[in-house]
Amino acid sequence: MMRQVIYRKYRPQTFAEVVGQEHVVSTLTNAIALGRVGHAYLFAGSRGTGKTTLARILAKTVNCANVSGISAGKSADTLSIRRSLGEGGPHKSVEPCNKCLSCQEFSKGVALDLVEIDAASNRGIDEIRELREGIRFAPAKAKYKAYIIDEAHQLTKEAFNALLKTLEEPPAHAIFVLATTEVERMPATILSRVQRFDFKKFTVPQIETRLSTLTKAEGVKIEAAALRTVAAAGEGSLRDAERTLEQVIAFSESPITLAHVESILGRVNIEKITGFVDLLSAHNLAGAVHNLHELSDAGINLHEFTKGLIQHLRRAMVLAASPQLKAALSTSLTDEEFAAVHAHANAFPINQLTRVIDRFIRAENELRRSPLPLLPLELAVVQLLLPGDQPRHQA
Ligand SMILES: Nc1ncnc2c1ncn2[C@@H]1O[C@H](COP(=O)(O)OP(=O)(O)OP(=O)(O)O)[C@@H](O)[C@H]1O
Ligand SMILES: [Mg+2]
Ligand SMILES: [Zn+2]
Repeated sequence: MMRQVIYRKYRPQTFAEVVGQEHVVSTLTNAIALGRVGHAYLFAGSRGTGKTTLARILAKTVNCANVSGISAGKSADTLSIRRSLGEGGPHKSVEPCNKCLSCQEFSKGVALDLVEIDAASNRGIDEIRELREGIRFAPAKAKYKAYIIDEAHQLTKEAFNALLKTLEEPPAHAIFVLATTEVERMPATILSRVQRFDFKKFTVPQIETRLSTLTKAEGVKIEAAALRTVAAAGEGSLRDAERTLEQVIAFSESPITLAHVESILGRVNIEKITGFVDLLSAHNLAGAVHNLHELSDAGINLHEFTKGLIQHLRRAMVLAASPQLKAALSTSLTDEEFAAVHAHANAFPINQLTRVIDRFIRAENELRRSPLPLLPLELAVVQLLLPGDQPRHQA
């Protein structure tokens, strides 16, 4: 039997297991506890942050045989409930039992009353038509029919119009969850009829904590720096981080080291990048050109190196331009990366940083076409560091 992929195996089955998104969890659980679940929700936010996961938990919970107090259709009141509950956290008592027949069917994704529509695959025309026809009928087995519409912004105009009519007069037994990564593409008419939740990207420490739970559950040993690099590679998406972890586990022996992770990610070690940037900031032309040759001789992928270099310089520039971003940057990078970004933000005047970045962006584009693989980088270094021959910066 095939091993279940991590991100499916560990999809949270209860509200308590959901990482972050506290505002969503507490509002939903409070609404369930008070018997005031809305008819239409919009889950907006970037990929892999738990939109589909929470939509499924919601659908399961309102249909659980062992959860009471639910009645759909009072979404207009949820605002006042939120106010009256103040900052009070989620209702810890509201969870699907995960044991009753209904819960099991929802968990397995075989519940007749759970309809998932992927608007990205065929833009939803037929599905929304079917939905409009089917929605008049009471749920087959469950208390509520739940419709989860993924990538809802991709629906066609016709599908949106059809959906709108349904949202205007939703039957008492229906609950809609529209999920989207591009909320600005949702029509205002739809937005005005849904209760909206914004899902936040995860910080590196949040992802790290989750991944560490998963590696322990899988009995996998992994170095702290390796885990942090996997977490950072997720760029705010837990799913992406979990996929990377999956790959890393599949391709390396235990204990998993930072070097394993870097080679699997095709990453160039931060030390190599910072070493090179140190030479640039010291105006050491001979050293920097020599360093390029060393990197090339060591078999470092020059594309990856240049990408990492630009990424690093960009962070330094952003930090120099806006020191308030310090906290956000420090939580999304490893300690070593952040220390280097911080140092380089101070090592160059900001106008020089922009010139260096511009020049390496050009070099990166030329790498693809250059018959001499090192030449674009050598040219960049020489032009940036040769005294009296600085490329004029165009405003
Ligand atoms: N808040 C979360 N708590 C725990 N695990 C999560 C969370 N968000 C995502 N995951 C993990 O990532 C996987 C994918 O999450 P999910 O499908 O809910 O993301 P999504 O927001 O719907 O993303 P997309 O916009 O790409 O559809 C889950 O199976 C789970 O393993
Ligand atoms: Mg999804
Ligand atoms: Zn149940």
